[in-house]
Amino acid sequence: MIDIHSHVLPKMDDGSKSREESIALLREAYKQGVEAVFSTPHFYPKRDDPEDFLKRRDHSVRSLLSTGDEIFQKLPLYLGAEVAFFYGMSRFEGLPDFCLGGSEYILIEMPFDKWTSEEVEEVVAVKETAGLIPVLAHVERYLAFGNKKHFGYLIARGAVLQSNAEFFIDRRSKRKALSFLKKGLISLLGSDCHNLDRRPENYGDAIDVIRSVKRRDPLVSVNETEKRILAGARPVTIDQNA
Ligand SMILES: [Fe+2]
Repeated sequence: MIDIHSHVLPKMDDGSKSREESIALLREAYKQGVEAVFSTPHFYPKRDDPEDFLKRRDHSVRSLLSTGDEIFQKLPLYLGAEVAFFYGMSRFEGLPDFCLGGSEYILIEMPFDKWTSEEVEEVVAVKETAGLIPVLAHVERYLAFGNKKHFGYLIARGAVLQSNAEFFIDRRSKRKALSFLKKGLISLLGSDCHNLDRRPENYGDAIDVIRSVKRRDPLVSVNETEKRILAGARPVTIDQNA
């Protein structure tokens, strides 16, 4: 159980506001059975300078690890980013620096409107030109714009779809979420946690929902994708960053 999408790094974005809040979020993840957390602060290419973002991220994680909290001995933490879609991302040479834990997987937040074929092809080019595997963040949020029709095509061209735990927990969307999982549309889960109250760590709750409804383990594809990411990823360590 890997939380592939979270905003646990302090003072990076609209997520954790302090080291204490970050540690509380990570402790909660561990309590819920999460075995590794990828911290994926928002990267907005129109607003953020790439180098400046990476420096800020480095500073944030060093500051967090320097607390020496025991949670870091128990729960591996990986760096990543939630990269807002932009035209030309497939040709951006710095894109690998934003990948999940240094793996070939890159978490992309797609536009919140009806996707054009050019946008869809830019995602495909991330795979075919940049040689990276696009992971579309919280796919359930694009359904309202009629973008489900693109999901099958993108998966066939090598993209991976991630949904938030909330998709499974919310009783209004639970059935749809389970159906997506069964059909193999969802291959990764994330909490997308931001804070302790309004957007908390809830990965374990989603797993409980999935396991309570299905007899056969429907998480096989998720587990396999998690393994592939971890195989190419490196966690941050206290020794390197303290
Ligand atoms: Fe997010």
